[in-house]
Amino acid sequence: MKSIPKHIAVIMDGNGRWATKQGLNRTEGHRAGAKAIDSLLTSSLEFGLQNVSLYAFSTENWKRPILEVKSIFELLIEFITDRLDDIHSKGIRIKHSGSRNRIPKSALSSIDRAVERTSKNKTLTVNFCLNYGAKDEIIHAMNGLIQSRKSAKKDLLGKVTEKEFEKYLYTYPLPPVDLLIRTAGEQRISNFLLWQIAYAEVYFTKTLWPDFDRSALVDALQDYDKRIRKFGGL
Ligand code: IPE
Ligand code: IPE
Ligand code: MG
Repeated sequence: MKSIPKHIAVIMDGNGRWATKQGLNRTEGHRAGAKAIDSLLTSSLEFGLQNVSLYAFSTENWKRPILEVKSIFELLIEFITDRLDDIHSKGIRIKHSGSRNRIPKSALSSIDRAVERTSKNKTLTVNFCLNYGAKDEIIHAMNGLIQSRKSAKKDLLGKVTEKEFEKYLYTYPLPPVDLLIRTAGEQRISNFLLWQIAYAEVYFTKTLWPDFDRSALVDALQDYDKRIRKFGGL
């Protein structure tokens, strides 16, 4: 492959449908989804990817039945407990993007522990987008910017540049997304990384997230490799 994306973002969709197809409950689908993350991390290291953003729970996912929401956060805690040593030993850095409001304390402390422990790692950054919504992020960034101008006693009405604004996004300092992948056939963005995907190449696949393996990633990367990116130029 000639070009490897600097930042891939994945809308990991289809856990529920995968479970239904197997005659299992939705929680088992999310558990299988967590296993697919293991495989993605292994392949990402193999291909030398530097930044991977994973949509794990959206600001809209609170609309789901409370028991499903609970099980997703429990699985997250389990994921971190089981994998943190291995993740750390591979030089993976964990980042969290999203609002801290409403995330159960136990899940927050798990994610904080993972972020803290891996903060010096440099091989691959895995950005867990948890309680993440792009509209929430943009408003959060605006408020952050105003707040920091206030505390620095700077002119609140001074012109805002993209460069200054970006510093307040949850994803800062990750580079823009080069490749956005959505599994499970839906062709929509569902409030994911609206700012960061401005010039991303988009790849949709019918594969359900738990079935997304190394060869599915290779297909996506090969497709990306064939794209001609123009960024508005000629
Ligand atoms: C994606 O799978 C995981 C989360 C949104 C947490 P879904 O749970 O949305 O699976 P489907 O879309 O119902 O198949
Ligand atoms: C997007 O999937 C969110 C995550 C993968 C975490 P959804 O299943 O929530 O998206 P919609 O509701 O189909 O748009
Ligand atoms: Mg879904």
